[in-house]
Amino acid sequence: MPQKFTVTPWEVKGELDYEKLIKQFGTKLLDEKILNRLKKHTGKLHFMLRRKIFFSHRDFDWILDKYEEGEKFVLYTGRGPSGHTHIGHLVPWVFTKWLQDKFDTELYFQLTDDEKFLVKPLSLKETTNYAMDNILDIIAMGFKPKKTHIIVNTLHIDKLYRIALKVSKHLTFSTVKAVFGFKNSSNIGIIFFPSMQIAPCFLPSEEKGHNVPVLIPAAIDQDPYWRPARDVAPKLGYYKPAQIHSKFIPGLGKEGKMSASKPETAIFTTDKPEDIRRKILNAFTGGRETAELQRKYGGNPDVCSVYKYYYFFFEEDDKKLKEIYEDCKSGRLLCGECKLRLIKKVEKFLEEHQKRRKKAKQKVDKFLIE
Ligand code: TRP
Repeated sequence: MPQKFTVTPWEVKGELDYEKLIKQFGTKLLDEKILNRLKKHTGKLHFMLRRKIFFSHRDFDWILDKYEEGEKFVLYTGRGPSGHTHIGHLVPWVFTKWLQDKFDTELYFQLTDDEKFLVKPLSLKETTNYAMDNILDIIAMGFKPKKTHIIVNTLHIDKLYRIALKVSKHLTFSTVKAVFGFKNSSNIGIIFFPSMQIAPCFLPSEEKGHNVPVLIPAAIDQDPYWRPARDVAPKLGYYKPAQIHSKFIPGLGKEGKMSASKPETAIFTTDKPEDIRRKILNAFTGGRETAELQRKYGGNPDVCSVYKYYYFFFEEDDKKLKEIYEDCKSGRLLCGECKLRLIKKVEKFLEEHQKRRKKAKQKVDKFLIE
C-alpha cells in the first residue's frame, strides 16, 4: 500500500496517520485500561494523556508493574541540538516533568550534538553551542536539579562510550541499515551513532550497579532507536527500556510538524513579542473568506493551526478548549479574535520562560551529569 507519510528520526513528512503508525512500528495504544491504572498513582491525568497527545507505548504496563512492586523507574529523554528550541520540543518535556513530579524520579536528558553534527550542515562547534543553549530551556522547564542529569554527548563521552561499545557489538550494519535507512554512502559516524542514543537506556543500571527500569517519553519519530535497544538489552543483561510516545505539534502553516527549518511556522522560546504576533497573525486557520460568511457558517477548528496550539499546549482546561471549538464552529468566534487570544497566552508563557531561561545560566553546572 502506498504511504502518504514518512516518519524517521531525521524526517517527518506528509499527513500522519497515527493509528497506522502504531501498526507499522508495532507499538501499543495507550488505552483506557492503562490510563485508569496510571490514574491510581497520579490522580487527575495530564491533559496530554486526556487528549491522546501521548498516545502509544511499549511496556508502560510493565513499568507500572515494577512501580507497584516497589521498583522505581528512571526517565530518559533527549534533544538533538540543531537550533533554538521551539514550542514543539517542549511538548514531551512538559509531560516528562509531570512524570518526574508525580513519581519523583531521576531523569537522564541527552543532547546529541554528535548526531546533529553528523546529519546536518553544521559545525561541531555550532551543535555543541546549541546544546548549551537548549540546556537553558530544559532547566527553565523546572526539572529537579538534584534528580536531573544532563548529558552532552561530546562532553560526557566517558559516561557513554563503554556502554555504546557493548551495544554496537550486537548491532550489525545490515540491522541499522534496515531500521534507519542508512546507505553505503552514509558517513560511518552516523552508522555508529544509534549505539550512542541507546547507551543512556542502560546508564542508570550501570550507575546503580543493578537493573533499573527505564521509561522514555519522546515523540514517536524516535522509536526506531528503541527497537534495537530492546533487542540488545537482554543480551547485555539489562531490562528492555519502555517507551511512551507523543504526536507532533503541527506548525502554524498548512501542514507538517513544527519545524526549525520553517521558522515562520514555529514559535521559538527566544522569539520576541513582535515575532510571536507576526507568526500567529499569519497562521493558517480554518476560517472562511469573509467575516460575514464565517458568522453565518462557522469556521473549521479541525484543520486550524491556531486551534491546534490551544489543543497541544496553551489551553489545558478541557472546558475552555471545548468552548473555543464550539464558538468557532458556530461562527461566534472569528479568527482575528481567536488569534489575539492565543498571542496573549503565548506572550505570557514566553515572557516567564525567558526569565527562567536567564536565571538558568547560573544553574547549568547543577544539571550536568557528574
Ligand atoms: N535524536 C533525538 C533528536 O534528534 C535526540 C535524543 C537523544 C532523544 N536521546 C533521546 C530524544 C531520547 C528522545 C529520547 O531530537
